[in-house]
Amino acid sequence: MSSEPAPPIRVAVLISGAGSNMAALIDAAQTPGGGPESGSENSYEVALVLSNMEDAGGLAIAAAKGVETAVVPHRPFGNDREAHEKAVDAALRRAGVHVVALAGYMRVLTPWLVGGWRDRMLNIHPSLLPLYPGLHTHARAIAAGDAQAGCTVHLVTEGVDEGPILGQARVPIVPGDTPASLAERVKTAEHGLYPRVLDDFCKGLAPR
Ligand code: GRF
Repeated sequence: MSSEPAPPIRVAVLISGAGSNMAALIDAAQTPGGGPESGSENSYEVALVLSNMEDAGGLAIAAAKGVETAVVPHRPFGNDREAHEKAVDAALRRAGVHVVALAGYMRVLTPWLVGGWRDRMLNIHPSLLPLYPGLHTHARAIAAGDAQAGCTVHLVTEGVDEGPILGQARVPIVPGDTPASLAERVKTAEHGLYPRVLDDFCKGLAPR
């Protein structure tokens, strides 16, 4: 008796800018048999790329890869973060996604959105959390004299960059590194880490 493979989990990726992590997530999902364990099928598909910024470079990249895109600008909502999130949430529900991956989404989330997607929302952060939550992570790692830097994929909770860690990748900090040179090395590591962790995460989800 042959058992049908489980259909891929529908994932939305939220971006505000260049979207290089988003592109890596799509590429991994669209490569036949190119799941992180070579030869395995990917457990997720990117069903929607959503941005709060109309001019996010990643939108055109996603569209070129054949992925549906949406823009929900935050500016019309002024200081009402929750009202903006309700519009975002409505777009996510319309697209029928089960998991949300933040990838350079430059909005601090309220407990309302975090609570609605608890244990189904991931983020990537360019440091070895719990070191250096927040901004300017590479400059801070260099200034501290660290030998290594890296990136972390974690579940999103109410505290910024605080949720349970799902995976990390490390890179060396080398003499002469600048925040820009280190950011480039970490970015390359991010592009390997995020698809792998998201794939593992979706494989571990209970059947829906
Ligand atoms: C990445 O460094 C990610 O870790 C951070 O924002 C950056 C987004 O870059 N959260 P990109 O848009 O994926 O190129």
